[in-house]
Amino acid sequence: MTALLEVEDLRVAYGKIEAVKGISFTVEAGQVVTLIGTNGAGKTTTLRTLSGLLKPSGGRITFDGKPLSDIPAHKIVALGLAHSPEGRHIFPRLTIAENLQLGAFLRSDKAGIEKDVQRAYELFPILGERRKQAAGTLSGGEQQMLAMGRALMSQPKLLMLDEPSMGLSPIMMQKIMATIVELKAQGTTILLVEQNAQAALSLADHAHVMEVGEIKLSGSGQDLLHDENVRKTYLGED
Ligand SMILES: Nc1ncnc2c1ncn2[C@@H]1O[C@H](COP(=O)(O)OP(=O)(O)O)[C@@H](O)[C@H]1O
Ligand SMILES: [Mg+2]
Repeated sequence: MTALLEVEDLRVAYGKIEAVKGISFTVEAGQVVTLIGTNGAGKTTTLRTLSGLLKPSGGRITFDGKPLSDIPAHKIVALGLAHSPEGRHIFPRLTIAENLQLGAFLRSDKAGIEKDVQRAYELFPILGERRKQAAGTLSGGEQQMLAMGRALMSQPKLLMLDEPSMGLSPIMMQKIMATIVELKAQGTTILLVEQNAQAALSLADHAHVMEVGEIKLSGSGQDLLHDENVRKTYLGED
């Protein structure tokens, strides 16, 4: 079986500085795959390249059997790849409902869109309760929920989440992680980028540790969770 996403020897540079130095990994349908690593490892650069926001300087990306090189970002969304970006980037002056609608900008099936809005409210009841309020009034964790809900509105085959736990309280972080587990149980395929290695490894089928642009270690989430070097370097143990 071919993987839903295949990344082969991907390279991405900002000018002369290579931020991603030839990484390879795959995501199979139904899996949660995580990229972990400290600040500056190249995780966000990788996701932005998969989304078509940055151009690779080398390598190949194949999504759902199609090469992604030279496909513009909006067409990549149409192919089924959605991105909940680092920092969330919700529209603070628009309402929660309007933010969700924007995630469906490529769709015209009104009834289907409404069904998926309701699904987002089931997943995150707080969004439903506050649907008519400006999104800027939400807490950081609630804005993260909105960013995830908005990404799901394109009915993606692959959902990419960039640091969903960033800046959140432990309780809110647990809520977000529990939602990722729920989405996986519903069959959503997820590529999760996290600095919070403990949380990400606990729920991932496969994990890759990135350091300064390279994948240094790969394995199942459980294997890496119990790996001595990973525990020392990323889980703060000595
Ligand atoms: N817009 C940019 N211009 C130049 N360098 C950048 C830019 N964005 C990121 N970088 C550099 O690329 C490297 C990888 O960054 P990034 O992908 O954001 O890492 P991560 O998401 O793992 O923290 C870092 O050295 C960072 O400073
Ligand atoms: Mg990042």
